Amino acid sequence: MLEKLKAIRSAAFARLEEADSMQKLNDIRAEILGKKCELSQLLRSMGQLAPEERPKAGAAVNAVRQEIEARFEEMRAIIQKKEKEAALLNEKIDVTMPGKRLPSGGLHPINIVRNDIVDIFTRMGYDIVDGPEIETDYYNFQALNLPLDHPARDMQDTFYITKNLLLRTQTSAAQIRTMEKQKPPIKILSPGRVFRADEVDATHSPVFHQCEGLVVGKGITMCDLKGALDLFAKGMFGPKTRTRFRPSFFPFTEPSVEVDVSCSLCDGKGCRVCKGAGWIEILGAGMVNPKVLAGCGIDPEEYSGFAFGIGLERVALLRYGISDMRLMFENDVRFLNQFR
Ligand code: PHE
Repeated sequence: MLEKLKAIRSAAFARLEEADSMQKLNDIRAEILGKKCELSQLLRSMGQLAPEERPKAGAAVNAVRQEIEARFEEMRAIIQKKEKEAALLNEKIDVTMPGKRLPSGGLHPINIVRNDIVDIFTRMGYDIVDGPEIETDYYNFQALNLPLDHPARDMQDTFYITKNLLLRTQTSAAQIRTMEKQKPPIKILSPGRVFRADEVDATHSPVFHQCEGLVVGKGITMCDLKGALDLFAKGMFGPKTRTRFRPSFFPFTEPSVEVDVSCSLCDGKGCRVCKGAGWIEILGAGMVNPKVLAGCGIDPEEYSGFAFGIGLERVALLRYGISDMRLMFENDVRFLNQFR
């Protein structure tokens, strides 16, 4: 029997050495110490021994069992340590690895241009005011000296919500709202979205952006207008930029002008962007019509003022040398990425 015990012991030790994971170690333990193991069978067969031999044999079997248990514990400690180390190695973070770059957004060219215009004019002391995109006929047309039957309304056909409510065609509506609320001196800038019932093409869109300027005070002249716009043009397109006024007509300004800037791409020589003219029209302006001042309760005998309306798309096209306005609204990231 002792011979058999010795054989079981060395077989068990050899089996334990084979374990290379906790899973395997536990399986082996069940096999060599479990209910059906050889050791248990040996214990059960002790009934065949002489009664006086039984305690000695029992003690010998238990001693081997304990030895195997002890070795199992040792093995467990070793394997657990190894598994922990392996896990730690797996989780190791290489802090020197390059990171993954997350795509970041950027400003739309229209917003870049708007922010720059706002910067230029706030430096000249203008306050920024906001106006509603849904306007009444009164603020968008009538108060700007465009009565219901005025032919100039044709140029600004828009989208009507009711007979009286419409999507504003021009930020000029902000002039009236400001003059109704505020006494001169007034110096405001009002950027925003405007709408017209136009077909989409390279130079037209039913939605576009303007930036309205209004200055009212004592002794304001057209020289002040020219000075302000010249500063704006140089700030926007570079110090070499020149401006020119061409006579024009707006019902709410008198006299009215169309303002051109020298093409910044060809410096006035004529190119693809300015269509050979050397000049590009970017805004309408003029001296506030006395009728408009009076309508807002400002005495035109005492005060005068100028107003201008800058087309933001025009400015952006010119500044970035883009020939098709549709790019501004398609939001193709390949286009937008160039402005980051
Ligand atoms: N509101 C005019 C337009 O949309 C531009 C303008 C503004 C002209 C202010 C004169 C003064 O065409």
